[in-house]
Amino acid sequence: MKIISLSIRSQLVITFIIIFSFIVFIVTYFNFSSSIEQKKDSFLQNSLIEANLLAEFSVTPLIFNDIEGAEETLNKLNKDHNILRVIIFDNDKNIFAQYNPSKKQSEINPEFKEYYFDNMNKDFLNFGTLKITIALKHQGNIYGTLYIEKSTKIITTILKKVFNDIIFFTIILLIITYGVSILLSDYLLKPILHLAKTSEEIAKTRNYKIRVSHDSKNEIGSLYKAYNSLLMDMEKSTVNLENQVSYRTNELNKKRELLEKSLKELKEAQEQLIQSEKMSALGNLVSGIAHEVNTPLGNAITSSSIIKKESNYLLQDLKNGTLKRSVMESRLKVLNDSSSLLIKSLHYSSELIKSFKQISVDQVTNDVREFNIKNYIEEIFLTNNNKLKTIPVEIIIKNEDDNLLIKTSPGVIAQIFNNLIQNSIIHGFSDFRTNAKINVMITIEEDMIKIVYEDNGKGIDLSIKEKIFEPFITTKRNAGGTGLGLNIVYNLIYQKLKGSLTFKSEENISTQFIIKIPRTYSYEEKI
Ligand SMILES: Nc1ncnc2c1ncn2[C@@H]1O[C@H](COP(=O)(O)OP(=O)(O)OP(=O)(O)O)[C@@H](O)[C@H]1O
Ligand SMILES: [Mg+2]
Repeated sequence: MKIISLSIRSQLVITFIIIFSFIVFIVTYFNFSSSIEQKKDSFLQNSLIEANLLAEFSVTPLIFNDIEGAEETLNKLNKDHNILRVIIFDNDKNIFAQYNPSKKQSEINPEFKEYYFDNMNKDFLNFGTLKITIALKHQGNIYGTLYIEKSTKIITTILKKVFNDIIFFTIILLIITYGVSILLSDYLLKPILHLAKTSEEIAKTRNYKIRVSHDSKNEIGSLYKAYNSLLMDMEKSTVNLENQVSYRTNELNKKRELLEKSLKELKEAQEQLIQSEKMSALGNLVSGIAHEVNTPLGNAITSSSIIKKESNYLLQDLKNGTLKRSVMESRLKVLNDSSSLLIKSLHYSSELIKSFKQISVDQVTNDVREFNIKNYIEEIFLTNNNKLKTIPVEIIIKNEDDNLLIKTSPGVIAQIFNNLIQNSIIHGFSDFRTNAKINVMITIEEDMIKIVYEDNGKGIDLSIKEKIFEPFITTKRNAGGTGLGLNIVYNLIYQKLKGSLTFKSEENISTQFIIKIPRTYSYEEKI
């Protein structure tokens, strides 16, 4: 557990206890160690005085070899329980007299060491046995040695008691410190906790009108004041923000409405454009019909006038009776040839008008029906023949399966191809008059058909290559181009036929449009 993750209260309590324990330890350590030294010192001093006095009393019996007197003197020591053993040695180191209540038998070498603590155990607060050796002197002569063994138990007992007292008071002090630090931290933290609680409430309710109150003029008082002024600022800015948000929302709503309106208008405009595109295609169609039908009709008129002229000649000769067989035969042959030509021309005209009529009806209605895609594309090219002839352009239409039927809107197909053909003529072949070709390849790809429309014209201008399907992109702005043709083609393929459109172009080599549409249009909405 990291100390940082503890509450401030616990951190304060722990800090108090650590600091207090440290102080108590230092103070107790120095006090106790000086008290040990004091006690030991005073015990030693007293023992030395005692030993010197005993030496004074022991020297006379030694001089006069009064063993009984010496033992009597020594036996008086039995009042002092700390004295373990006292021995009087003569100068030959023989025991002269001794006091040995515990009957200890250990060997003693009465070497002259004056005094020392013989601590064999090295226990806590155990100083062992104090051993004192004093020379027994009288008028400058040494008659022997006094040896005393004294127990230090009395100091150990006192010091142990002191130690226990210290431990007891330290524990009591620690408990008091703990209690005081809790009370103190509660007192110090109360205003901060109040602040935290208020912040929590504000965060939950977003009510910036709440204020905190505190009477003191100390740092907490200043903190509360600053907190209140912060709340005041927040209250103001929230109101501002709310106003701004509602203002912006209003603005956005207005803009959205405006956008929706513009979008609707744009859609309508797009529909109108498609319509006007259709109308202009119909106009083209009509001029195409006029142009195409012109030749067979001209032939028909010529043939019929020849028939009329030749039959008049025949009638005249018959009336005058000048009709020769050979003349009649040659005139009848002319009549026959001319009427054949007449029939052929009228037939061709009727076919042309039929297909023009179908295409124009398709373009107006946009209805979905099943038709032969190759034949239909050929008919569309036919309706554009008058323009294609002026360049002239060779048309090659290849089909994987000549009988391939598709079910979609032929009118939309016509609109798409009219635009592509018109673009090839106006843009692809504008500066290009020889060997112009348009290739159309129709292949089947599962339930889709792929139509590749390709001209070998000058290719799409590099400057518009990236945005060729966007509206109003044209390189012929000043020459009647609006830049809507390919955008309309794109929308017709994606939106009406549910297909896709891509293109490839190489400068002065070719422009290719790749159209993929479903073989069977099975969408719910009508085209
Ligand atoms: N087959 C093509 N060969 C070369 N450039 C082409 C071809 N088709 C289209 N482009 C280029 O793409 C541009 C955009 O064609 P789009 O049909 O959209 O507009 P437009 O033909 O200029 O005008 P509009 O069709 O509205 O009369 C053209 O201006 C032309 O530069
Ligand atoms: Mg165009």
